Amino acid sequence: MVTPARTEDKEPAQYSKANGIPSFFDYFDFLRENQSGRFDFFLYLTHLEQENEELRHQLQQTQKMEAIGELSTGIVHDFNNILHPIIGNLERLIEKAAPDITLQRPLKNILKGANRASILVKQILSFSHRAELEITPVKIQPIIREVIKLSRSTLPANIKITRAIDDDCGPVMVDATHIYQIAMNLITNAAHAMRHEDGILDIALKEIQIMENGPQDVSLKPGAYICLCIADTGEGIDDSIINRVFEPYFTTKKTGTGLGLSVISRIVKSYGGDIYFTSASGRGSFFQVYIPRCYLPSNNISSTGDAQKNSHGCESILLVDDDPFIVEFEQEVFEDYGYRVTSFVSSLDALKGFKSRPGDFDIVLCDMTMPNMTGLAMAIEIKQVRPDVPVIISTGFSEIINKKNYQKMGVDGFLMKPGKPEASLKLIRHLLDKPYKFSWES
Ligand SMILES: Nc1ncnc2c1ncn2[C@@H]1O[C@H](COP(=O)(O)OP(=O)(O)OP(=O)(O)O)[C@@H](O)[C@H]1O
Ligand SMILES: [Mg+2]
Repeated sequence: MVTPARTEDKEPAQYSKANGIPSFFDYFDFLRENQSGRFDFFLYLTHLEQENEELRHQLQQTQKMEAIGELSTGIVHDFNNILHPIIGNLERLIEKAAPDITLQRPLKNILKGANRASILVKQILSFSHRAELEITPVKIQPIIREVIKLSRSTLPANIKITRAIDDDCGPVMVDATHIYQIAMNLITNAAHAMRHEDGILDIALKEIQIMENGPQDVSLKPGAYICLCIADTGEGIDDSIINRVFEPYFTTKKTGTGLGLSVISRIVKSYGGDIYFTSASGRGSFFQVYIPRCYLPSNNISSTGDAQKNSHGCESILLVDDDPFIVEFEQEVFEDYGYRVTSFVSSLDALKGFKSRPGDFDIVLCDMTMPNMTGLAMAIEIKQVRPDVPVIISTGFSEIINKKNYQKMGVDGFLMKPGKPEASLKLIRHLLDKPYKFSWES
């Protein structure tokens, strides 16, 4: 920020800038206000040059991030396809190995690892703004425990972790990956602040009631909130920068991006919550994250047992995915549940197969991203032949189709990859049991 000394006042002048770039009026005002000639104009130009250099650097950083985002999206898409059958097969193995306790434990540990990888995938996608959000009622407690466990293995031994997690906290309506992201960012910041000497990282989770005109010095709407508190005994934040820590790209670290707090603050606000903190130089920091608690009617919480009971069928499924491992895995699952499955690894072959005997299929399940013809293009052709046949599209990421717009795109169901087999089975059953409504407008 350019803050040259003024001759008239003692206070430094601050020049307004749109997008960080001084305007013609800034120069003009500046010259007008400094007629006494005591100010070194060249010094001012040097300031501007430095600031331009900083902006250029920021631009380069942003372009670099964009490039990383593009690259990671491609890799992550393939990785997602690898994870999908791994998670699915593990779930089936766990189900089948149910009576054998010696097998249950290692299998569940592998599944936990695979699920963690799947969360990582989503985080990479969310970094490049490409994640499909899955907003569901989420219990935060197990996530925080998991993050603490992960952090314990990476934090230096001089940091002691204490925790107070209230198991009675209600759920919040969020995408679970965001909770990982929030907790990881705050814990990483706290750990960094304690890197030079012994310290205590205190993590607490509780439910708090914000009252109308209550004593709390927070500006949230009245109601119940889940509050995640992360305190450290580290170096604290100096008064001179305390108002800047949420600014994007503001960092005091050699390798920091300065995006951590700004990103999580945006996430928390998008859920109707907020982040508050207190800190002082040499006296540690205390961050509080508030997210509104959600209330659910008890009949909304479905048990897996019910889902499985209602997922069987004997209808005929046309299954299409360019990844043979996914096809093999899904075919096995659907056949286990009684369905007849015809599968293809090419959308063009699948369409040919469908057109040759359109009356043979009751439902179509296809991947979105496939070479030669996307799942959506195939769905449109299928609907032209038989508008009554339900089509489900599954995807890890697509620019075109998502959870919000799939119906407008003309398909009947949408699934995220990697997903649980129960989700596919439930959706298939739901669509097959739904009475077909003929529409003149379609
Ligand atoms: N617990 C803390 N103790 C001391 N300073 C902190 C703490 N949390 C944040 N800060 C200050 O706020 C700045 C911005 O934090 P933020 O998380 O946005 O970015 P960063 O940590 O610098 O970079 P990145 O998140 O990419 O690692 C930090 O550089 C640090 O100066
Ligand atoms: Mg950070």
